[in-house]
Amino acid sequence: MKNILDAKFMTEAIRTLSNMYRLGWDERNGGNLSVLLDTAEVEEYLDTENVIREIPFSFDATALAGKIFLVTGTGKYFKNVEYDPAANLGIIRIKECGNIAELLWGYTDGGRFTSELPAHLMSHIARLECDESHRVVLHTHPTYTIAMTLAHSLDEREFTRTLWQMQTESIVVFPEGVAVLPWMVCGTNEIGVATAEKLRGARLCVWGEHGIYGVGRDLDEAFGLIETVEKAAQLYMIAASVGIKNKITDDELRRLAATFGLDYRRDYLG
Ligand code: 13P
Ligand code: ZN
Repeated sequence: MKNILDAKFMTEAIRTLSNMYRLGWDERNGGNLSVLLDTAEVEEYLDTENVIREIPFSFDATALAGKIFLVTGTGKYFKNVEYDPAANLGIIRIKECGNIAELLWGYTDGGRFTSELPAHLMSHIARLECDESHRVVLHTHPTYTIAMTLAHSLDEREFTRTLWQMQTESIVVFPEGVAVLPWMVCGTNEIGVATAEKLRGARLCVWGEHGIYGVGRDLDEAFGLIETVEKAAQLYMIAASVGIKNKITDDELRRLAATFGLDYRRDYLG
């Protein structure tokens, strides 16, 4: 067996989580990550017959039965992951019954997966239905994105349009726009259902007064989406505080979309 700490999926996840902590997005235990792993690849590193323990949960994930995920632990700090990956991360397989996670590696201090497992697994189910190459669900608390949910309308069209108006890259990176949920109690099946539903139509879902979800075919895609929203939100918060005098117009956004051949939310422009 090869050393799992050398696996590409592991080194990439650890590097991303450390970066996110240093960006100031993931205070304390804020944020969580789940990555759908390739079973054959996992078998190079782990005896998948060896189930360390079973951890039940209270929603139906039979659509993911047999699938293996790398998942951050609940209450764990992103800043600590690189120093003790096995205590802060876990590798779980969804059992046939659909409401038990079989622990194959990690959570060595007796811990368990993130409290946001409903939003993660329900979002994996929803995204796999739209895109069989989907792999990653990433949740974080980026400062300016949250600030923007305090200062700006949460209407999805208005929120997206403002992000598009702040910098050229926004509409190019997320032409389908950003979904937005109002504040809800986190860690529940309800917010999981609502998030997964939103992520059918977009790869980004903002949680009012809380944070954001990004999904993708790999970590770079999910991270890059969130990073681009956060940059636009930062520009908005800085510029709005002194008064916005210029922004990219709807006509300019249309020209940009035509040049880049974007399949964008045309109804979000005036
Ligand atoms: P966990 O520590 O359970 O992952 O929760 C962190 C968080 O961001 C809740 O939304
Ligand atoms: Zn959170």
